[in-house]
Amino acid sequence: MLKGKTVVLGITGGIAAYKAAEIASKLTQAGARVEVVMTDAAMKFITPLTLRNITGRPVVTDMFEINSEWSVEHIALSEAADAVLIAPATANTIAKFALGIADNMLTSVVLATKAPVIIACAMNDNMYANPATQENIEKLRDRGFKIIEPAYGRLASGKQGKGRLTDLETIIRKVDEVLGGKGDLTGRRIVVTAGVTQEPLDPVRHLGNRSSGKMGFAIAEAARDRGADVTLIAAPVSLADPAGMTVVHVRTAAQMKAAVDKAVKQADALIMAAAVADYQPKTIAKGKIKKESKDSLTLELVRTPDILGEVKGNFIKVGFAAESEDPVGNAKKKLASKKLDMIVANDITAPGSGFDVDTNKVTIIEKGGKAEELPLLSKREVAEKILDRVAKRMGR
Ligand code: CTP
Repeated sequence: MLKGKTVVLGITGGIAAYKAAEIASKLTQAGARVEVVMTDAAMKFITPLTLRNITGRPVVTDMFEINSEWSVEHIALSEAADAVLIAPATANTIAKFALGIADNMLTSVVLATKAPVIIACAMNDNMYANPATQENIEKLRDRGFKIIEPAYGRLASGKQGKGRLTDLETIIRKVDEVLGGKGDLTGRRIVVTAGVTQEPLDPVRHLGNRSSGKMGFAIAEAARDRGADVTLIAAPVSLADPAGMTVVHVRTAAQMKAAVDKAVKQADALIMAAAVADYQPKTIAKGKIKKESKDSLTLELVRTPDILGEVKGNFIKVGFAAESEDPVGNAKKKLASKKLDMIVANDITAPGSGFDVDTNKVTIIEKGGKAEELPLLSKREVAEKILDRVAKRMGR
């Protein structure tokens, strides 16, 4: 969808400004006419000459440039734009957008434009987490700005945190989508499971585990954003239902199996990110189990169905393996025994990986392929990496 479209690329002053050169290059190569607007701070990180050579267009930096080809420049640019992309967008410029300040060319274009505006945030992690920035971002989201959250990773300060400009493919894909492009999973039906099954002992208690459900929800949301028709089968979690997909709530492994077996009849892929209990109490007490005077209690547990291992049908099957020892070796065994196309192994003992965190350190193993170890990434980024491979298997 980028061909022949005018994209105003706003660059603000952060260390990630150097990446804007590659964004400009990718947009230009995809056939877009890229009009670059830089703030003064951006020019401390990258020169207008670089962007001019890449886009073949003059770079706008000065609000009052006499020799400009644009008459009443900020208005002309804002009207010419089919989309405005700010990448990287610093906390300072985001705050100006939220307040409607127009003190330089870029903020003036954004205030004047009727085109969709995409903001790819990049800043120090503390600045991003600051309630002032979060409130500004929320305000912009409410006004219809498209927000691309920063990714987790190494920051300019040298520490790890959420603040890095997200991967460039995600940014370009968002611009394409805003311009009416269809995602690479358009028309594909994807079933994702997430959350933790609960196996009741009595009307009050259940067996569960520490999984948060965040990984599965991130996959469902990423698949939706790439155009897929998503069914999310969710065991209990404390996350709100995502918009734009069918959400089926289940509690036990048996209920999840029934929901999965029904949903996969239409599916092109099943991604099982749920933490399913392997055992359930043999009997469920009708009344609340009383401790009376017993010092110990023995529960008899029986196996739950292996949902992924038993599911039938001709669709792509992706499993997860949460391991505390030899993640790759154990995951490979599960890939073979459950006849999967792909398995995502995570070492739950690794820092930043595992339960209730927003990051994950995984190794992806595809049938007939080598184990690919990914760096520590946000769960959303891990989701995109999994979906890249799913889309490839679908021939997209
Ligand atoms: N899974 C499933 N049904 C179960 C248990 C797990 O479908 N009853 C799925 C999980 O969603 C995950 C994969 O199978 O995608 C995990 O495989 P599994 O061997 O069951 O992992 P663990 O439960 O961690 O196994 P183990 O305790 O043997 O390591």
